[in-house]
Amino acid sequence: MKKVGVAILGLGVVGSGTYQILTEHREFYQKTQDVDIVVESVLELNRERALALGVPEDKIASNIAEIVSNPDVNIVVEVIGGISAAREFVLAALNAGKTVVTSNKELFCKYSHELERAAKRQNAGLYFEASCVGGVPIIRTLLDGVQGNKISSMMGIINGTTNYILTKMTNEGSSYEDCLKEAQRLGYAEADPTADVEGFDAAYKLSILSSLAFHTKVPFSKIYREGITNISKDDIADGKSLGYVLKLLAIGKQSEAGIEVRVHPTFVRQGHPLAAVNDSFNAVYLTGDAVGDVMLYGRGAGALPTGSAIVSDIIYAATHSENKYSTFKNTAGADKDTKFISDFKSAYYLRIMVEDRAGILAKIAAIFGRNNVSIVEMIQKPIGVDGRVPLVLITHETRELAVRNAVAKINALEGVGHVETVLRVIS
Ligand code: HSE
Repeated sequence: MKKVGVAILGLGVVGSGTYQILTEHREFYQKTQDVDIVVESVLELNRERALALGVPEDKIASNIAEIVSNPDVNIVVEVIGGISAAREFVLAALNAGKTVVTSNKELFCKYSHELERAAKRQNAGLYFEASCVGGVPIIRTLLDGVQGNKISSMMGIINGTTNYILTKMTNEGSSYEDCLKEAQRLGYAEADPTADVEGFDAAYKLSILSSLAFHTKVPFSKIYREGITNISKDDIADGKSLGYVLKLLAIGKQSEAGIEVRVHPTFVRQGHPLAAVNDSFNAVYLTGDAVGDVMLYGRGAGALPTGSAIVSDIIYAATHSENKYSTFKNTAGADKDTKFISDFKSAYYLRIMVEDRAGILAKIAAIFGRNNVSIVEMIQKPIGVDGRVPLVLITHETRELAVRNAVAKINALEGVGHVETVLRVIS
């Protein structure tokens, strides 16, 4: 039976989960995959942690050189995260001809071109299923499952921390700050939650996923990004009363006009499949020209779900003699022939605090009319603050720039009203 040696760089949450799956399922893979996958080495500075997991003392390496020079190691799993050490170690492994499996979305988003070049040079594999949406097999779906389609749209809830926070705000009417604290207490959110709550994590993943879906490099810099830190209880409650739930959506679309890629909080109509994705769960909703709609749902983080994605890459690499690389020109920046759309179209939710007196509504409506923004529904609440009341409205689909112009004009009408919230809406 073919024997394949694996080294794991980092035994944090995901590294430990990967070690556990590989050791517990070793016989199962021998039987079902006809391959003996053995953890030959781990790189973990905290030796106690490695020993507690059951790693034999002689399998704990002290540095990356020991791993890349070990002839029994065929596959190197990078689960350290961040850029500097991870990039150096992954390049060292690829340059030594080892296949690399990584869960590192930031590294892959920013340096896939450099890593792929090194991999191709050495005829080594480079696999990254675990970099996006944890245990949900979205990358293999894009590469192997729906590759016969032209993908026109991809919408996903691809960050579990923010989905947990927004679900809790929706169900309990609690503030963003309180829900963030609870997410931190439960270990979903980091002590510094910026990467999750400001949408960076989702944008790294969207860059990778949309590059694969649209067969062209979609750099991080092309992604419009907005996080959830300014979302108020009132917005969530108003959306709810109009039949919407708020989700941090990552959206990628491709049409004749070009590609649009964005991450922002979005009101989703109750009844839409994504509206039912709650707590720390993730989902991706794809539309292909042949297959129609496909939705994948599952856990986007955690030791075993992310370990599951890593082990699926290990098994793929261990059982295939040919490596797979990207289907597009993998460069540092966008291909000059790819057009990106920044003035995208969407429906909008606006919350405007207005003076409660005659004629105000007419002035605001006139501004929307002049900017070609058409209103679908509107509610004015009777209870306000300092003589101002909230006016909440949903628009028809319109251009982002038109809404921004209208908002600037309303805010410039001294003493009339102030736009407190602008959120996109899908129905
Ligand atoms: N922090 C991410 C999330 C998981 O909350 O979904 C890893 O990308």
